[in-house]
Amino acid sequence: MLTIDLNSQELIEKAERDGVETMYDRKVAMKAQCGFGLQGVCCRICAAGPCRITPKTPLGLCGADEHVIVGRNFARMVAAGTAAHSDHARGIVHTMAIASRDGNYTIKDEAKLKNLAKEWGVETEDRDIYDIAHEVADIALMEFGKPHGTLKFLSHAPYQRQDLWKKHNIEPRSIDREIVTIMHSTHMGCTADIDSLINLSLRTSLADGWGGSMIGTIFSDILFGTPTVRQSEANLGVLEDNKVNIILHGHEPSLSEMIVLASEDPELVALAKEVGAEGINLAGMCCTGNEVTMRHGVRTAGDFHQQELAIITGAVEAMIVDVQCIFPALAKVSECYHTKFITTSPKAKISGSTYIEFNEETALDDAKKIVKEAILNFKNRDREKVHIPQLKSSTTVGFSEQAIIGQLDRVVNSQIDQTGTVKPLVDCLKSGVLRGVVGVVGCNNARSVSNKAHVTIMKELIKNDILVVTTGCGASAAGKFGLLNKEAKSMASKGLATVCELVDIPPVIHLGSCVDCSRILSVVSEVAKYLDMDMCDIPVAGVAPEWMSEKAVAIGTYVVGSGIDTYLGIMPPIGGSSKTVEILTQTLQDSVGATFKVNENPEELAQMIINDIEKKRVHFEELV
Ligand code: SF4
Ligand code: FE2
Repeated sequence: MLTIDLNSQELIEKAERDGVETMYDRKVAMKAQCGFGLQGVCCRICAAGPCRITPKTPLGLCGADEHVIVGRNFARMVAAGTAAHSDHARGIVHTMAIASRDGNYTIKDEAKLKNLAKEWGVETEDRDIYDIAHEVADIALMEFGKPHGTLKFLSHAPYQRQDLWKKHNIEPRSIDREIVTIMHSTHMGCTADIDSLINLSLRTSLADGWGGSMIGTIFSDILFGTPTVRQSEANLGVLEDNKVNIILHGHEPSLSEMIVLASEDPELVALAKEVGAEGINLAGMCCTGNEVTMRHGVRTAGDFHQQELAIITGAVEAMIVDVQCIFPALAKVSECYHTKFITTSPKAKISGSTYIEFNEETALDDAKKIVKEAILNFKNRDREKVHIPQLKSSTTVGFSEQAIIGQLDRVVNSQIDQTGTVKPLVDCLKSGVLRGVVGVVGCNNARSVSNKAHVTIMKELIKNDILVVTTGCGASAAGKFGLLNKEAKSMASKGLATVCELVDIPPVIHLGSCVDCSRILSVVSEVAKYLDMDMCDIPVAGVAPEWMSEKAVAIGTYVVGSGIDTYLGIMPPIGGSSKTVEILTQTLQDSVGATFKVNENPEELAQMIINDIEKKRVHFEELV
């Protein structure tokens, strides 16, 4: 089986009938994967190589052993992932720097901006909100390259965690600096010590979680609004036969927010009717999909593995992308249908696409131009080629940290207790009604059956009184399989089902996009601070059942570095170095209080997590 998603199965068959190649065909054609690559023991860092480690050639030409080679490759994955999240964040901050009252971008969450301004010592009294925004944005931009000090958001962690980072010298300084340090230290002839390479990786990844990603989340909330609870739907069945279908795929909300606005423009809606459509139907994919569903309820078309399949429905007028997770193959697939594959970012030009550059200064005009292209393409839709699969599930989305606390306040007796805190969540964890909270996040990986591990693990966890929070393509999987629906509490065990009923939440909570994994850090940190504990003392865990990207390696590493055990359903390319495996899966327990654990069997992985949460509870219950 290739995927457990029935819509995808239908479309894979359609692709065969249409003679269109998909990732699933390439997976079969690829046959055996490169064993050196899988183990991480191929070094291409200098041109004397590539050197591949075998029993007969245990050292590269320079003398680098398997630990150095695997460690350098791992560190570079962390650096690339951190760069991707953080450059996304930088884009959002630049956008805030040009926000103005009558411009394309306004400030939507003034309270959050003022809180941050106060935290950063920016004067707020009697000042125009836009002056505050610009000053705060300037300070945030310095976080990427400031010459002195450490990252400001480290102070959001419990003091115990901050002390630990200092003790182990893994407090990130500025974001770009950590990335550069890894690129320098992994250059030929620099760091050749595996402990040091893992420490560098931890420090850089923390610059992602408590730097780039956290900035991305907080600044997006300020600019575009902090998500609030709302209803939506997910899966390819959200495409509509009689409307102009536009898919928003990629990551940065600066673009998608403007497309949402443009799609409501009366002139463009009228134009859609003129060309014979009943209107404009936006649908999201990957993290852009998560951003727009969280803030606008825009329906989710699908996940990473459905990007080609969406076009294969024959019903998509435009696939609009910006950066990250975009298959270059979309250019070829869209040639087989009428779909316009529109790239918009100078950071991700793709040959064979239609390139319409999106600039924040001319955002709404650019967005209108893009939407117009889609509308004008409606007439080219070939009815013979259209097949929209019917399945879709209803979802409840929009759980920012504040929205979660808002929901929790429903069970607070406001005459006795203070509202607006994590106390109700803490009480559920203390009493054991909830055994723990687990973040199930990350991509889809063609090395496994699409969606199977995500869905299996989420269902097992909620059957064992473990509340699940999810982001990224994990969230899309949860949405498609009905787990983001409040009715899914019927799949949960008694304790969790009761909490869901009282607090009015689904058993799996959609926290947003991949950069919003920082929301998980924030919630765990608040719980730990409330209990005066470190994050590693709380019965929580992170899981990336089907991870594939370098960004996921950065996330997994910062989650471990934050004291939260991380479970992987796909083995990272480290197996060739026993020392790397030992450090990441064992030794880190002593330094950061958490490790990676890997099992490619989803049922077994779920059981491991459940058992470990119970073990963690023994220690937790002693502390509380
Ligand atoms: Fe080979 Fe060393 Fe060059 Fe890597 S850095 S390719 S191991 S010589
Ligand atoms: Fe993502």
